[in-house]
Amino acid sequence: MNLNIVHARQLLTLAGTPGPRRGKALRELSIIKDGAVSIRNGTIEWTGPTDQLPDKTKPEFDATGKVILPGFVDSHTHAVFARSRADEFEWRIDGTPYMDILARGGGILSSVKSVRETTDLRVQLAERFFEYGTTTIEAKSGYGLDLKTEIRMLEAMRSTGKLEVVPTYLGAHALPEQFQANRDAFIDQVLQDIDVIQEKRLAEFCDVFVEPGVFTPDEARRIFTKAKSAGMHIKIHADEFQSSGGAALAVEIGATSADHLGAITSGDIRRIAASNVIATLLPATLFNMGSTHYAPARQLIESGAAVSLATDFNPGTSPTLNMQFILSLACTQMKMTPAETIVAATMNGACAVRRESHLGSLEPGKQADLAVYDVSDYREVPYFTAVNFCTATFKRGELVWSRK
Ligand code: NIG
Ligand code: FE
Repeated sequence: MNLNIVHARQLLTLAGTPGPRRGKALRELSIIKDGAVSIRNGTIEWTGPTDQLPDKTKPEFDATGKVILPGFVDSHTHAVFARSRADEFEWRIDGTPYMDILARGGGILSSVKSVRETTDLRVQLAERFFEYGTTTIEAKSGYGLDLKTEIRMLEAMRSTGKLEVVPTYLGAHALPEQFQANRDAFIDQVLQDIDVIQEKRLAEFCDVFVEPGVFTPDEARRIFTKAKSAGMHIKIHADEFQSSGGAALAVEIGATSADHLGAITSGDIRRIAASNVIATLLPATLFNMGSTHYAPARQLIESGAAVSLATDFNPGTSPTLNMQFILSLACTQMKMTPAETIVAATMNGACAVRRESHLGSLEPGKQADLAVYDVSDYREVPYFTAVNFCTATFKRGELVWSRK
């Protein structure tokens, strides 16, 4: 795909510090006025002011008056599921806590039941991520909890058309009912399954839901030690509702990211900040749970942590795939600046899926994944709450979605 995208009012290239951005670098947007992107074979060849375009012979896409951002990298989703859980949504409104629903065999376990019964598993709404400016997602298994269904979930991630999906094995997402009296046997099973999944090259990451009432740090440590030795990278659901040492375990084990952190302690904020672990915050989860308490983004950033943002798109706690809404929540509820939210959702998201060498910014040599917004200033993307201003999305230089 060869193309020149021209005359963007603001082209946010995010050129600058390579790798995870922290502190001041978390605001590095590198904005070019009247910007252009020159694309060859799906790769960015050049960016700069439109009047300096080196090769004017390519077909053109006119972005006059619009803002261009790198495609969002949504680094935490549970997008493979079978049906919605609108019933539980109503139970929670009536006052039943999420963890109580899980303890009664609902919640994650209800998705497990419907996923096991479904033959044509798929990434839900896969074709709609592009509408909102997302060009890459991470997706987790974890609604199978047996080898056969976990494999089917991971295989479903391979047939999403042009949407790039980074697969994560989340075999320890909840304890299946038949193992309630024998937790160790379930962990042993997960350890064995890791070998099969790795042999089939089905997952790049291994994740565990570490939370009181789900899995303990000791159980997760056994799983992560095995996953690492098999060659997988590590992600962890840590301190979502209560702190139980998940964030500290992420640092100890050398995880790529620690996700949620709604209840992280100040000691663990310091540990994460001093490490290479990306702190992935998922404000839509707490929003959808009706919480008024969000992850301490400012303390994390001011302590030096590399923060990323993602949707946590799933049928239980976060039924949204709209990254623009995540940016709005991060600004209003966690006091991140618009610039910080954009870096967190692109460059640091790419780092959270270990794809920073070709995703996350618009720099020569990187994949031409970008989205065009019909706004006059980048801050309007988070400012307009839950209004979608994305008008065109490009994946590897190809127009994969545009507003009619
Ligand atoms: O990230 N916390 C664990 N997993 C998901 C919820 C999944 C579900 O309820 O189905 C989360 O919130
Ligand atoms: Fe999650």
